[in-house]
Amino acid sequence: MLDTKTPLVEMNDISISFGGIRAVDRASIDLFPGEVVGLLGHNGAGKSTLIKILSGAYKRDAGSIRINGEDVSINNPRDAKAYGIETIYQQLAVADNVDAAANLFLGREITTAIGTLDDAAMESKAREVMGRLNPNFRRFKEPVKALSGGQRQSVAIARAILFNARILIMDEPTAALGPQETAQVGELIKQLKSDGIGIFLISHDIHDVFDLADRVVVMKNGQVVGSARTEDVTKDEVLGMIILGKVPPGATPGPGAQNGLV
Ligand SMILES: Nc1ncnc2c1ncn2[C@@H]1O[C@H](COP(=O)(O)OP(=O)(O)OP(=O)(O)O)[C@@H](O)[C@H]1O
Ligand SMILES: [Mg+2]
Repeated sequence: MLDTKTPLVEMNDISISFGGIRAVDRASIDLFPGEVVGLLGHNGAGKSTLIKILSGAYKRDAGSIRINGEDVSINNPRDAKAYGIETIYQQLAVADNVDAAANLFLGREITTAIGTLDDAAMESKAREVMGRLNPNFRRFKEPVKALSGGQRQSVAIARAILFNARILIMDEPTAALGPQETAQVGELIKQLKSDGIGIFLISHDIHDVFDLADRVVVMKNGQVVGSARTEDVTKDEVLGMIILGKVPPGATPGPGAQNGLV
């Protein structure tokens, strides 16, 4: 049974500085199974830096990380992957000249008993995973560069979940997509949610995440302004958190909350 009580991720009091700049300042954030948490904030707020600490790209100066309730030390991307953490960046790391199946298994190919590539096994697995994510996808034999942005995104997501991602980080996943493809990514996210995968959805645009997110966490100047269930706040209130650092009644303030200050 799906354990929805223990957080998949708890990042507590995380800080990191680059030179003299505190890019992330005592930030705390958590994520439960089957939950979409929208991480919002202006350019330079510290969103990407915070999640890069979770994905092992940066090492924190202070704070703790728990995965499934246990303290862990994540020192590199390999550690993160071992905990089921996969990241999909805006610049999709897909190989343009090969097809979807080859992309899914790039660097982790299935081989036969005699050590040759098992193309049949890889194609069949690719069809299974892609079929679950995007049932209309038929273009298995085409190089990925021929696919639409939304289809490329589903290849990148399939690659992540194929290797048992439980925690998916999507940094500005729809920034380069049109409205139809953005809707398609929304459908993918709902599918992943129903599989119990937890998703951090990062954006500087409230409209990208509000309808998909169960909760939002807003950052400003490296600090968490506050967090809220999306059902407890309006888009305008979240905009107020992003722009002014002002926390509405339906939200829980963080260290970066500006309420009461002029
Ligand atoms: N490797 C680095 N070296 C020096 N400074 C950095 C580095 N990475 C991030 N920063 C600084 O840390 C701060 C937070 O940046 P970050 O990229 O996390 O913001 P963001 O919220 O993701 O913004 P955006 O919406 O533009 O992606 C910024 O001031 C940025 O210049
Ligand atoms: Mg960023």
